[in-house]
Amino acid sequence: MLKPKNLYSRDFLSSLDTSEKEILNIFELAKNFKNKELNIELKDKVLGLVFDKSSTRTRVSFQVAMSRLGGTTIDLNPTTSQIGRGEPIKDTARVLSRYCDAIAIRTFHQSDLNEYAKWSSKPVINALTDLEHPCQALADFFTIKEEFHDFKKVVLTFIGDGNNVANSLILCGALLGVEVRIACPPGYEPDKEVVNKARKLYKNDDLLRITNDLASALPGANVLYTDVWSSMGEENKKEIKDKDFSGFTVNSDLLSQADDDVIILHCLPAYRSKEITDEVIDSNNSRIFEQAENRMHVQQALLACLFS
Ligand code: CP
Repeated sequence: MLKPKNLYSRDFLSSLDTSEKEILNIFELAKNFKNKELNIELKDKVLGLVFDKSSTRTRVSFQVAMSRLGGTTIDLNPTTSQIGRGEPIKDTARVLSRYCDAIAIRTFHQSDLNEYAKWSSKPVINALTDLEHPCQALADFFTIKEEFHDFKKVVLTFIGDGNNVANSLILCGALLGVEVRIACPPGYEPDKEVVNKARKLYKNDDLLRITNDLASALPGANVLYTDVWSSMGEENKKEIKDKDFSGFTVNSDLLSQADDDVIILHCLPAYRSKEITDEVIDSNNSRIFEQAENRMHVQQALLACLFS
């Protein structure tokens, strides 16, 4: 039977907390979970969910993944816990890690996530910060692997804001050797430190391109990926960003400039008719809902690796 390995009791704060080999092992486990060919029991294990921001997919996929493993989750947010009152992270982390076997945290600053990890005696998982969304990237590349099998033949073009999702695609793409192009308006490039770290991992410099010239990023692309232009916490920037991102909507015209076998990804939730049109989300090229489903299978595999 396929066994989880290598990630036992480790934090998953960044895509870079895994290696290519470990990611491929997670994908193999996820495939087996998805095909119902694997049964791993994590009876009595408890995953704490600490969510400072809203979530549908991440919360529910972790809850169902834990339930399928025979474990359970505890869902905390600032309103219903003492977190909103300003209890120090180092106190919350030390207490929660005495009750729970791992904690998945969605918060704003990566430094706060790192603080949880510093004080928690159990593994901490990044369920999204402003800097990274590594669980999302795992599901994204798993979805790409299901479609194209060989990462070395894939060109992934991300169109939009150089946000946490773009950062994690860059880092995970670098680990897997996938060609990644980020097409964004000027001023919305991904995090510089993330790009530098990725460039050190890539054996070939040409495999990572950051450009403001959207048209140049489309030919040969097998995956077009987009995300909202204004992330959670950026509500006051919506008006200006909508203007700045004019021309970056993923529509049928953009689709026609990519490779014939192109698939469309979006981490959701989407603002239909802003960053992506209805016809593209609902087209035959879309794998957006498979991608959302895969969050659950991949996180089930990640949890199995962390717990056993
Ligand atoms: N993609 C994603 O993280 O979705 P939620 O915000 O619904 O969790």
